[in-house]
Amino acid sequence: MRSSLLTYAFSVAGIVLAQESSLNSELGFCGSPLIGSTFWNPICAGDRQGLTVVAGSGDFQENIHRAANKPAEVVLSADGILAGSPWSHKPRCLRFENATEKYCLYTSPTFAQDRGVTLFTTPEHKDLFLQLPAFTNPDVTQDANREPNPPYESRQLPGRGVGLIANRTLHRGDHIFSTTPVFVLHGDIYETFADEDRFPFQTDGINRLPDGAKKKFLDLCGHFGTDKVDDIINTNSFAVDLFGEEDDETNYNVVMPEISRLNHDCRPNAHYHFDPLTLTQHVHALRTIMPGEELTISYLDPAQTREERLKALRASWGFACSCSLCTQPTAQAKASDERIKYTLDLIEELEDYSADSLATPQMAEAVISMYEQERLYGPIAEVYKLAAVEFNGVGEIWPAVKYAKLAIEAGILYGGPYDKDVKDMEQLVKEPQMHWSHLLRMEKRMERNMQQE
Ligand SMILES: *[C@@H]1O[C@H](CO)[C@@H](O)[C@H](O)[C@H]1NC(C)=O
Ligand SMILES: *[C@@H]1O[C@H](CO)[C@@H](O)[C@H](O)[C@H]1NC(C)=O
Repeated sequence: MRSSLLTYAFSVAGIVLAQESSLNSELGFCGSPLIGSTFWNPICAGDRQGLTVVAGSGDFQENIHRAANKPAEVVLSADGILAGSPWSHKPRCLRFENATEKYCLYTSPTFAQDRGVTLFTTPEHKDLFLQLPAFTNPDVTQDANREPNPPYESRQLPGRGVGLIANRTLHRGDHIFSTTPVFVLHGDIYETFADEDRFPFQTDGINRLPDGAKKKFLDLCGHFGTDKVDDIINTNSFAVDLFGEEDDETNYNVVMPEISRLNHDCRPNAHYHFDPLTLTQHVHALRTIMPGEELTISYLDPAQTREERLKALRASWGFACSCSLCTQPTAQAKASDERIKYTLDLIEELEDYSADSLATPQMAEAVISMYEQERLYGPIAEVYKLAAVEFNGVGEIWPAVKYAKLAIEAGILYGGPYDKDVKDMEQLVKEPQMHWSHLLRMEKRMERNMQQE
């Protein structure tokens, strides 16, 4: 029964795909194309010999602990999914014959207060997911759709699709909404499996979702004109790092349909960060926003020249940038580009901790000033940190503490409270003399001078 149901659902999705892909390519840019700052096109595996699909790998039989505040019927299905398992379907896995690594679909219909999520990941990582507060304590996840009194309303905007308009004054740091992913994909899947093996699995992953989440996902737009589900993933997913220590995390792609309601601006008034423990994306105001203003985020690294931004937006999301910065008169656009190029050179100097670097605290302050002129109110967290490190590096503790505090305030908005730069700056404020940067510049330069004598 289950398998024929799945086959049916799958073929329905196949028909929808055929109809809508032509529609999408006619429209070109539809609604709010989405995020993926470090997004890349899928890489196809060259060799797909020995590929096996492992149905019901047995993982579902594990009795997994979770906060069981849901009636057992939700996790028990007529198909014999055991009580205690959070999954609504038998996990279905994809792997190469004899390979140890396999990637499976795990769908939890109760995740985030019954919104649901599908994980496409290894059995080992599935266990790590189940230990996250996002799964052990359903109350920690927040859902924008349940917000009783949101500070915005959704409106159809001429030439921009649907957008969110602030309906009260928001101040820097104010919370706008939070949302959880409906699809979470291990980054290695792209390199491991060929499109023809991966696509049906991804589609199955969406078909397994509760109806509401499935509809939200399928309502998103793609623009590459390929497999419908894959296209939506490529156009709308965010790259996030999960599990493991610094620089050793696994890259995941997560799709959060609600974020797509925010349109792009190169100088946005809002920013988002992803909390890896609650698997929740939080959106906050970056500056004062007046009622009637559209809420915007940047789909890309905003510290790029106009030409680079236009190119990236067209390639990844298929639309021509029409934000105020992209449509500035030539003289202003040129000045902005020059400012950005100049700051990037200076940042390179500031990030060079060798004795040859020409970095000074005043150089860092010049970069801060240029970021303010550029209205880069999110990424400014990074240059506040550079200034704190420069001042501490020459032993000027109080300006170092001042900029570290500014870096923390901006960093919590930009990278979230768990961001490693935020943690680093908290250490500096606590004990400037014990921080790694203390007197670093002076010592490096003295060493060099001694060697030269
Ligand atoms: C898998 O292992 C079996 C038994 O060792 C072997 O006969 C088969 O050729 C292997 N398959 C691949 C694709 O390596
Ligand atoms: C703003 O709009 C939302 C609907 O999205 C509504 O629930 C809320 O009450 C409105 N707030 C104000 C201050 O008008």
